[in-house]
Amino acid sequence: MKSILPLLLLTALSTPSHATPKADFSDPTAIDTIAFGSCFNPKHKKFQIFDGILKHQPDAFLFLGDNIYGDTEDMEVLRAKYAELDAIPGFAKLRETSRVLATWDDHDYGINDGGNTYKKREESAAIFLDFFKDPADSPRRQREGIYGSYTFGPEGRVCQIIMLDTRYFRDVLPRTKEKRKPDAVGWYDATDDTSMTQLGEQQWNWLETQLQVPANLRIIASSVQVLASEKGMENWGHVPHERKRLFDLLKKHKAHQSFFISGDVHFGELSKMDVDGYPIYDMTSSGMSHPSPGWARATNSFRVGKAHPVLNAGLIGINWEAREVSLSFINPKGEKLATHKLPFAELEF
Ligand SMILES: [Fe+2]
Repeated sequence: MKSILPLLLLTALSTPSHATPKADFSDPTAIDTIAFGSCFNPKHKKFQIFDGILKHQPDAFLFLGDNIYGDTEDMEVLRAKYAELDAIPGFAKLRETSRVLATWDDHDYGINDGGNTYKKREESAAIFLDFFKDPADSPRRQREGIYGSYTFGPEGRVCQIIMLDTRYFRDVLPRTKEKRKPDAVGWYDATDDTSMTQLGEQQWNWLETQLQVPANLRIIASSVQVLASEKGMENWGHVPHERKRLFDLLKKHKAHQSFFISGDVHFGELSKMDVDGYPIYDMTSSGMSHPSPGWARATNSFRVGKAHPVLNAGLIGINWEAREVSLSFINPKGEKLATHKLPFAELEF
């Protein structure tokens, strides 16, 4: 009888489950300048942050949510509000000269502090993907939610950008019944209900695959803050079992050189948490059109340096030779308000 071993070997070699995971979109062009921001409401008539961003000629601009203030179940109103954003010359210029990647937060999703109970989530997702010009064959159009991943650069200089969807699947947290802490500005506390999800199972599975995509630097974008958890506003700290799952996934897949960026809170701050000896960073930039000094005064024990309660955007500079990332907050003139350097070596598991 002939051995079936060669056949088995061939089958094993061609099994797709051993294939290297890929991002949803990839571009071999190396990038070294990424800007990001959140919370832009044209009604404040403050458009100058786009000028500050454009001065740095970013390779990519990441819009982290509350990109418009839709707050509606009327999809015509939502479309009209996206059209207002489109008509702003600074944003139009950014679209022309950079790659604009986006996720959403509650207001552009359609409802303040909203989650999986928002009735128009499917319609809103379709309008979002059209506005941000996702191609017809985009993986984001083949599944629920608007999460997505991107890689830029050749081997050795691959920057992966993971844009999470923290709205479509998330369970809506109950507002705290107890009196708020003196310096809290929001209405939420950590839940001990471990059935509450932030990302939903489909997105968790996708994320686990994405953390195995070969990359030399990994930027994980969440609309809401990942580390700062004391101000009572929506954040990952209110679903501690989900946050632990996030950190455990990073550790499990040894996702070196990963850090988070976030928005939502109307000021800028950098947070750092020690997780089993590994430094996790979360750079928050929010307030492209309207900052909130009051919210910036709320406690954040994880803050590194100062809070920036002014119009601001985030700027990420990647020095591939020195293997170092610079995280800066910039103002509408493009000036750097503060810079924090992160050597790649510090981000090794
Ligand atoms: Fe928000």
